[in-house]
Amino acid sequence: MYSQAKVIAGGLAHIPLVIAVFYFILTTFNKRALKFVEEVKTKKPESKAVEQKKQAVSKSENTKVAKKKHADVPVNIYRPKTPYEGTVIENYSLLKEGAIGRVNHITFDLKDSDPFLNYVEGQSIGIMPAGEDANGKPHKLRLYSIASTRHGDNFNGNTVSLCVRQLQYEKDGETINGVCSTYLCDIKPGDKVKITGPVGKEMLLPDEEDANIVMLATGTGIAPMRAYLRRMFEPTEKEKNKWNFKGKAWLFMGAPKSANLLYEEDLQRYLTDNPDNFKYTKAISREQQNTKGGRMYIQDRVLESANELFNMIEDEKTHIYLCGLKGMEPGIDEAMNKAAEEKGLNWSELRPQLKKAGRWHVETY
Ligand code: FAD
Ligand code: A2P
Repeated sequence: MYSQAKVIAGGLAHIPLVIAVFYFILTTFNKRALKFVEEVKTKKPESKAVEQKKQAVSKSENTKVAKKKHADVPVNIYRPKTPYEGTVIENYSLLKEGAIGRVNHITFDLKDSDPFLNYVEGQSIGIMPAGEDANGKPHKLRLYSIASTRHGDNFNGNTVSLCVRQLQYEKDGETINGVCSTYLCDIKPGDKVKITGPVGKEMLLPDEEDANIVMLATGTGIAPMRAYLRRMFEPTEKEKNKWNFKGKAWLFMGAPKSANLLYEEDLQRYLTDNPDNFKYTKAISREQQNTKGGRMYIQDRVLESANELFNMIEDEKTHIYLCGLKGMEPGIDEAMNKAAEEKGLNWSELRPQLKKAGRWHVETY
């Protein structure tokens, strides 16, 4: 039997439980309420979404502007299935007595191409070597940087020139010759060659006449630079292009021996005629030594000129072009890192900025 006193005591015993439940509900609600206030204060989810949308729009607009800027640059006029058959006009060695290997300057006639195979400085063309591969299939095309301006070496606007090194390496005691580079170095005036392209928008020159152009080339990496320098300094070409270059051009050129320096006479002539606008720095790896007693590479020359070079790079009118051996990229990066450090700059931050601004151009192979 329950006495009144027992009932009261039992009721009192439940009070802490009721308080605990009430406290739990209150704190949970408070936490959620605080979290909500915090979210509104810091995240502002709606405005963040709007901001993201705005960024996406501006990014796509930037891309559109860049695409629009190069919209008139021709690409893929001829594709591998229907290449243009160009005629070889000339094919001669660019090397002097005692040079290593084989590097040729080769010019093709484009005048019979229909549609006309036009191109601009900094682009490449594809070459499809004659013959078949080991599986009896036609050889795949190889790309080559165009070494002539759009007006061609004869200034008639209907030729294209290349600068080609024959690939040769030793394997199991045997000398292996590269398929396409050997084909190109061996072709004779009058021969027909299958050409595709043009391709590439990475190495285009800026339109601005007061831009500064820094060029880092190894071996045949000089090809696009030769086209740029002709556009800037070759008198007849200048009459044709009406591009009155007023900036500073600086070429860093890497070659194994003096006899391997390419287009040297032209470059010396440009130096004599344009002392205030052209600087030419050579790294002749097997004749000169770097400070550590090793082969002199263009990255060693970059380090020697760090201060002057970075003063130029800090100017937003300066573009940097890298072309040639893929293997030079880490070395150049390391040198730029050190050179930037000396100026109190951070290369790993600066390089993506230059790339984004369309001022850092790389084509290595
Ligand atoms: P292949 O017969 O194709 O042989 C090449 C293959 O040989 C390699 O893929 C590799 O498997 C092997 N190989 C190469 N070296 C060795 C080695 N040391 N040991 C073992 N195996 C090896 N070249 C120029 O000369 N001038 C240019 O202006 C130029 N511009 C270019 C621009 C671009 C955008 C690109 C992508 C490349 C450019 N090249 C240029 C390189 C060119 O496209 C060819 O790759 C080059 O001529 C070799 O082609 P090949 O047919 O002679 O050699
Ligand atoms: P080397 O071959 O003496 O080591 P080419 O194409 O006519 O052979 O010229 C390429 C030039 O680039 C050569 O002087 C070559 O030097 C040099 N070179 C080779 N490897 C590198 C590298 N990793 N960085 C920079 N230059 C290089």
